[in-house]
Amino acid sequence: MLGKITLGTLVIASSIFAASEVNVYSSRHYDTDKELYKMFQERTGIKVNVIKAKADALIKRMESEGKKSKADVLITVDAARIYKAQKKGLFQPIKSKFLEGKIPAKLRDKNNRWFAITKRARVIAVRNDFKMPKEVFYEDLADSKYKGQIMVRSSSNVYNQSLMAAVIAHKGVEKATAWAKGVVANMARNPKGSDRDQARGVAAGVGSIAIMNTYYIGKLANGNDTDKNVVKSTKVIFPKFKNGGTHVNVSAAGVAKYAKNKENAIKFIEFLASTQAQSLFAEANYEYPVIKGAKISPLVASWGSFTEDDISINKLGEENAAAVKALDVAGWK
Ligand code: FE2
Repeated sequence: MLGKITLGTLVIASSIFAASEVNVYSSRHYDTDKELYKMFQERTGIKVNVIKAKADALIKRMESEGKKSKADVLITVDAARIYKAQKKGLFQPIKSKFLEGKIPAKLRDKNNRWFAITKRARVIAVRNDFKMPKEVFYEDLADSKYKGQIMVRSSSNVYNQSLMAAVIAHKGVEKATAWAKGVVANMARNPKGSDRDQARGVAAGVGSIAIMNTYYIGKLANGNDTDKNVVKSTKVIFPKFKNGGTHVNVSAAGVAKYAKNKENAIKFIEFLASTQAQSLFAEANYEYPVIKGAKISPLVASWGSFTEDDISINKLGEENAAAVKALDVAGWK
């Protein structure tokens, strides 16, 4: 009798333990996420413990922790890093009808080792008084007519590396390198600062064309008065490739190979792909949802629609090394 009670207690205790937490290693750096974690915790009773750092540091940490790793989920802000983590065997395939049903195949690993949770386009913010056609191709950014106009951050930034990977995927290394050389020749100054700093520079007249991710424009629009004016004095243009669409990058999540809380990890990623979470990513962080039925923010919608480039997320990862090398050869600091 006592044994039964003890056994029962144990079972309950262990199920409480199993449902109690999920450990998330995240390189996302946005306040929205805190709100989402709180929502998840309130809904499921599963406590979300977050370790925030740059993706490379988290990847290194998971590698060195090995089987002892506490990570249940790894989230990156970029295609190249999620690909890198997968190549290093840091994820495990999972079964989730929900995620497979909700997230389009091109936005997840074919073996379900990772899933995109948000999208962002790499676009240009152009000062209102600077004349540019409505239809702009990435290829144009290397045209000497834009000499002294382009503002973009350094080539060590992974968003630029993934853009370059897309250029390589479309044109091959040689033409892509020539393109990057053209962009470098058109730069208003040596690369420095963040995406937001490029738009600020454009508004201040240092250059006229800032290359940046869409959500940073949303953040500027909801920032201080100076940043609000940056957005007022610029317009958003979605460039596209001559044989493709607008370059899109992702934030993505996967279940860690040695996850101790695997079921919680799956529940957590499913929650991130829920309409509620997707709407919050879109409304509060100006990202594009990965599922149908989640609305984008009115501000983001006001910039207009675009056709996404068809280069796969994996391809951006595969070409990362070539992109880093080509950017260096091109002299992109
Ligand atoms: Fe970012």
